Amino acid sequence: MSKPINVAILGATGAVGQELLELLESRNFPLGKLKLLASPRSAGSEIIFKGEKLVVEVVSEEAFQDVDIVLASAGGSTSKQWAPIAVKAGAVVIDNSSAFRMIPEVPLIVPEINPEAAKNHHGIIANPNCTTILMGVAIWPLHQIQPIKRIVVSTYQSASGAGARAMEEVKVQSQAILNNQIPQAEILPYPLAFNLFPHNSPLTDNSYCEEEMKMVNETRKIFNAPDLLVTPTCVRVPVLRAHSEAVNLEFEKPFDVQKARDIISKAPGVELVEDWQKNYFPMPIDATGKDDVLVGRIRQDISNPNGLELWLCGDQIRKGAALNAVQIAELLIDN
Ligand code: A2P
Repeated sequence: MSKPINVAILGATGAVGQELLELLESRNFPLGKLKLLASPRSAGSEIIFKGEKLVVEVVSEEAFQDVDIVLASAGGSTSKQWAPIAVKAGAVVIDNSSAFRMIPEVPLIVPEINPEAAKNHHGIIANPNCTTILMGVAIWPLHQIQPIKRIVVSTYQSASGAGARAMEEVKVQSQAILNNQIPQAEILPYPLAFNLFPHNSPLTDNSYCEEEMKMVNETRKIFNAPDLLVTPTCVRVPVLRAHSEAVNLEFEKPFDVQKARDIISKAPGVELVEDWQKNYFPMPIDATGKDDVLVGRIRQDISNPNGLELWLCGDQIRKGAALNAVQIAELLIDN
């Protein structure tokens, strides 16, 4: 039995922060002291954890004293500012932002894929982008049997990816539309209720947006496959929570569909959800609150003998963020 681990959650009042709390409570995590950190906006607010009232503190240098692990989910600029300070104070930071993910000496980990990378950190471990985690868990078991050459992926990303306030905004927008009013957008760039738009992350020089390039670069890093070809199209859809992805995989030679189903049905972190009689396949509503990524509609690509098509849904806040971070913390404890 390991010694109790003192944990700080940076961004404790956010959507991922709230899920981190739920996971620390529901999993058999050897928790010692718990600190809840956020911005001055929510300092002093109270959160109930395991039946006890905990007070949210403003993040500060002193806040990291005596902390073993920081679970950070307060955005990239906050992580860039505070992660080095937390590491200096002796903590290991598991960071949910994109701030450190592509730094070569920072491990980027999905525990079902590259757990060994957790042994080699310098204080910061990065939690990958949510769409990358969900796709990676689903396709890694196939990649183990036959290396994937090329991935064409389209995402259907929920409001939760933009945080708790974006989720609230979609509800308010929906209500406005039902009341024949014009929906207002403040957190997201455009109204999302009854609408969709290409992902709102900044565009890069190659005309892909940053979210899309995260899927390219992070998948290559996690899979240790620098030549893997990935072309994503990321889209925000008016779903509150849980992302979906249509994934086309190209291999060197044909991949038997039934074999792919068997592999997915036995792989860790995924659940095969297919009822071809009823035309029932993964839906975000079914993935919400679940640890596993739901995978289905596995079928031969009729345009390419070496291609497979699949569809997946995964809880963006849970496996796409908080759960993956807690699993990394558990790896550290096991190591
Ligand atoms: P706060 O509630 O004080 O704004 P989400 O991604 O769901 O929007 O949540 C973001 C989380 O990050 C919240 O807990 C938020 O705290 C926190 N946060 C945002 N900016 C800062 C900051 N500058 N310092 C500390 N925490 C921050």
